[in-house]
Amino acid sequence: MRVDDKEFDKFIDELQEEIYQEELRTFSRKVVEEYYNPKNWGKIEDANAKATIKGPCGDTQMIFLKIQNGIITDASFMTDGCGPTIACGSKLTTMVLNKSIAEAKKITPEALTEALDGLPPEHQHCALLAVNTLKKALDTFENSEEDE
Ligand code: FES
Repeated sequence: MRVDDKEFDKFIDELQEEIYQEELRTFSRKVVEEYYNPKNWGKIEDANAKATIKGPCGDTQMIFLKIQNGIITDASFMTDGCGPTIACGSKLTTMVLNKSIAEAKKITPEALTEALDGLPPEHQHCALLAVNTLKKALDTFENSEEDE
């Protein structure tokens, strides 16, 4: 029997809605929205600060920054990790925009988690991984400035 395309599309839509609702039982709406529609995904080709960290869970977070006169003018991320890691990279790269290096360094995993309306205990480390990657990028940038 052939299922026509409309029926198939409807089936896919219903399935996606079911998955979405299931995820909302585990994660906040902000987390789910961020990982379905991440902002700032990808590499910044002319980034002057970047870092990669592989967390204990085996997932990798990458952060790219463009820093001009001490201000973060562009930020992006890439990860091979879980949905919450995508949400953390997305939210964190929006939080650092137009911040000074000192201000960006003050962002804690708790502040990132709060900005996402919370993360389940087993995903708290995803925020830590994102924040640690940001800090590494900023430290590497500052150390390279000192060398000049
Ligand atoms: Fe590894 Fe989220 S489970 S960073």
